[in-house]
Amino acid sequence: MAPRGFFVGGNWKMNGDKESLQRLMSSLSAASLDERTEVVCAAPSVYLDLVRSGLDLRIGVAAQNCYKEAKGAFTGEISPAMIKDCGADWVILGHSERRHVFGESDELIGQKVAHALASGLAVVACVGEQLQQREDGTTEEVVYAQTQVIAENVTDWSKVVLAYEPVWAIGTGKTASPEQAQEVHEKLRAWLRANVSDDVADSVRIIYGGSVTAANCRELASQGDVDGFLVGGASLKPEFVDIINARA
Ligand code: PGA
Repeated sequence: MAPRGFFVGGNWKMNGDKESLQRLMSSLSAASLDERTEVVCAAPSVYLDLVRSGLDLRIGVAAQNCYKEAKGAFTGEISPAMIKDCGADWVILGHSERRHVFGESDELIGQKVAHALASGLAVVACVGEQLQQREDGTTEEVVYAQTQVIAENVTDWSKVVLAYEPVWAIGTGKTASPEQAQEVHEKLRAWLRANVSDDVADSVRIIYGGSVTAANCRELASQGDVDGFLVGGASLKPEFVDIINARA
C-alpha cells in the first residue's frame, strides 16, 4: 500500500478581490512547495475562472460549494458542471459554515456529494462537532453520523478527501491539540475500516481543519492519521506556504 500523500487545502471563504487574489496567486505560484503535497485552493465561485488561469498548475482549484443538480431553476446556485467549465476539479462540501450558517442538512450534503462525484469533481467532504457536542461527549456520534451520510453517497473514494473540522476550532484561534485531532482521525479511519473497507480506510486522506497556522502545523502533521489540512484564515497569508511544507 502506497503511503497516503499529504493534502493541503486553502479555503479562502468569502474573501479577496481581483487585486488581492492576483497578489496571493503570484506569491503562491512562485513559492517553493513540497512536491509531495497536493495543494488545492478553494476560491469564491465568481473568481474560479480567474483563479484557475492565474494559479500555477501545480495547485488545484476548488469551489467552496455546489448544488445537487446539473442545471435548472435554482437561482443563485452553481453546478459541478459549471465548476468544471471554469477549469476547477474540486469542491468542498459540508463545510460547517454551510451546515450551521446556511442550515444545510446531512441529506442535502449527501446528495451534493453524489452529484459532484458523478459529474467528475473530486470532493473535500467536511465533518465536525460543535463545542456543546464535544462537551456533552457526543463527538464520535456526531462525526460518525455525518460520515455515514457522506459514505452512502460516495461512489469512488479515490476522489474524496475527508476533512475533520471541529466547529469550535474554526476561525477561533483555538486549534485542536495534536492529540485531540489524532484521536478523532484515528476513530474516523476505524469507522471507515468497519463500515467501508480496509482499502478505503488505509487510502483515504483525513485532513484536519480549524485554526491551523505555521506555528502549529508541524506537530499536527506529525500525527499518524493526520494527512493534511484544510486552512481558512492562514491560507490568505504568506504562512500558507509553511503549512504546505509542514512535512518537508
Ligand atoms: P480557519 O478555517 O483555518 O480559519 O479556522 C478553517 C476552515 O473553515 O476550513
